[in-house]
Amino acid sequence: MVTYASRMARLGTETAFEVLARAKALEAQGREILHFEIGEPDFDTPAHIKEAATRALRDGYTHYGPSPGLPELRAAIAEVVSKSRGIAVTPEQVIVTPGGKPIIFFTLLACAQAGDEVIYPNPGFPIYESMINFVGATPVPIPLLEGAHFSFDMERFEASLSPRTKLIILNSPHNPTGGIMSPSDVERIAEVALARGILVLSDEIYRSLQYDGTPVSIATYPGLQERTIILDGFSKMYAMTGWRLGYGVANRSLIEHFTKLMANSASCTASFIQMAGVAALRGPQEPSQAMVAAFRRRREVIVEGLNQIPGVRCAMPRGAFYAFPNIMAWQRSSAELASHLLDEAGIACLAGTAFGQYGEGYLRFSYANSEDNIRRMLGKLALVPHQPRG
Ligand SMILES: Cc1ncc(COP(=O)(O)O)c(C=O)c1O
Repeated sequence: MVTYASRMARLGTETAFEVLARAKALEAQGREILHFEIGEPDFDTPAHIKEAATRALRDGYTHYGPSPGLPELRAAIAEVVSKSRGIAVTPEQVIVTPGGKPIIFFTLLACAQAGDEVIYPNPGFPIYESMINFVGATPVPIPLLEGAHFSFDMERFEASLSPRTKLIILNSPHNPTGGIMSPSDVERIAEVALARGILVLSDEIYRSLQYDGTPVSIATYPGLQERTIILDGFSKMYAMTGWRLGYGVANRSLIEHFTKLMANSASCTASFIQMAGVAALRGPQEPSQAMVAAFRRRREVIVEGLNQIPGVRCAMPRGAFYAFPNIMAWQRSSAELASHLLDEAGIACLAGTAFGQYGEGYLRFSYANSEDNIRRMLGKLALVPHQPRG
């Protein structure tokens, strides 16, 4: 019998892709499915970005490029991040990757190992826990509580710190809850990280989708930039999920490690796609702003609609494009209910537990879908009987 490396047993996955595959299989059988499972804008990539990619192909950007990214794009990212966060970032502190996701992979590979503890939000993006386990470090989940606007449970955070804490992962605005971290919580985490010499992975991929207040990056606190890895990218802000373009910002020595990891894996990010990234950052921002405005309207529609359904309670998300309703009154596990909604009502959504054990009792709806489809989904959901089990 062929056997594979034991570390593979520690690697998790992202349920969204599995549910999407199940939903597509049902569609292939002729069923109508309303899609609320996958976290990607339903908008097309803005035309000027597509045009820049086509032009780059014509201009010969079809070869290997430097592993950390094309100088043009690293410079544009350094400028944008410096301006948006109010910190000084140089191009040497930037690495371009195929999507933002590799930055999670690279951070865990470069920074954590057996014996290290990594603090991360739960519910949270499943790749955090998967990668913490993969590198042999110990996952230390911090519950996000609905009563605290899905911010870190700070008491639990303080109690979870240990001399072994190596890395803290933050994600604000947050997937799957739509919560954002308060400046005072971020400040406290910054103090702790500085005092104890802990690294921080700040996943800011939904930064442009914060509806209230100004996003705060932990990298802006004194002494924190040096120990923070910022993850950001083009998938959500420019509707470029399929292009695979993202980046990390970190201190130069960490960027050198990440560059080696790039050289050992993808070699580099596709050159013509990086040129499209330059156009995205330097070109007109109105298409992105229009998307954000549409998400804001849809947020109202879905949250109001969900709250009208008996047994459903949904907090107003403050960022990203996810609603995370509490369905505890339905007295079914989240996984069972999500499966039932797909099979019986043609609604594809995710169980809260797809994001960790503290997601039990919740569902995640990605409202990157038309208002019309949101209303149709709400209509169907309202008809699902929700008696307690057996
Ligand atoms: C919290 C979070 N981080 C990172 C990513 C990775 O995005 P991408 O690799 O498409 O840039 C996602 C995608 O869903 C996400 O939700």
